[in-house]
Amino acid sequence: MEIVTASAPGKIILFGEHSVVHRMPAIAIAVNKQTTVTIDQNESLTENEIFFNATDYHRSYKISTENLQHDSLTPINQFFLPFCVIIREILSKNNFTIPYGARITISSNIPKGAGMGSSASVSVALAKAFTEFLGSSVSNDEISSLAYRGEQIIHGTPSGIDNSVCTFGGGILFENGNITKIPIPDISIIVGDTGKPRQTKKLVEKVGFLNKKWDFYKEIITAIGSLVRESIPLLENGDGVGLGELCSINHGLLEALGVSSPELNHLVEAAQAAGAWGAKLTGGGGGGCMIALTSDNRVKDVKNAIINAGGHPYQMKFAQKGVSIQKSEKEN
Ligand code: MEV
Repeated sequence: MEIVTASAPGKIILFGEHSVVHRMPAIAIAVNKQTTVTIDQNESLTENEIFFNATDYHRSYKISTENLQHDSLTPINQFFLPFCVIIREILSKNNFTIPYGARITISSNIPKGAGMGSSASVSVALAKAFTEFLGSSVSNDEISSLAYRGEQIIHGTPSGIDNSVCTFGGGILFENGNITKIPIPDISIIVGDTGKPRQTKKLVEKVGFLNKKWDFYKEIITAIGSLVRESIPLLENGDGVGLGELCSINHGLLEALGVSSPELNHLVEAAQAAGAWGAKLTGGGGGGCMIALTSDNRVKDVKNAIINAGGHPYQMKFAQKGVSIQKSEKEN
């Protein structure tokens, strides 16, 4: 019997979503919510069979590794396609065979489809668990690239920031695929979920389209890049007031790019009015989550303001830990 469990954190983008797709820098930080992927050898499955059970998503799917060898992946269930693509990539180095059936159980306490890295976190934890299950030891850079394959299926042309931060954990400055670790500030962060799904793929396409159409639009993207660079010393000094101010400015620029929504604006304004240092949407936008940075004595007021504005607040902590193996047992 063999059993492997891997976990990977969710994330917030502190500054620079969307502009990062256009080669500007951005800052992402892992949070203390995570996905867990457990893979075990299951007797009810025959060799080369893979059974996915995504418990919190209330979905399951069975596939044979033979079906992963075909050029066309069209018949594969849409929800599980990104994960099948990752497994295909890993199995291409193993002649597409596994000597027994593998049951893959996915569970997560990250708000789903909300711009908090739920999809990247599953892809990262799956890549780590599956390579470990097959007994291969791969670097974090390889885990992140495998997860990127899944992200491409979901988001089209992602920058790679989500799979990177979910792999490496902590705070990262991401620019053109290069990652620099940065200090994470010891400040309270409140996440407000609008309850509407984020629309990353559609809005990345919209920004791409408008960026080609209007010259001045490029200046908004460049301005976000400058804001990201100016935030770095504030992160190093843990300057919550300054970082909050930059959050609110970044939100205004994201609204100008056309990626906010009335619901997100409503939660951002409510958090600002309740005394947060600053607030902005986080991730793909169009729905999903916003974040508010606040002093500890305003946490309660900000959470209540988010509830009264129709959102669901979560108090989160920044997390240093990236992807890791929680359990790996091999018995004959
Ligand atoms: C999604 O979390 C962040 C975006 O910038 C897309 C990307 O970077 O791939 C909107």
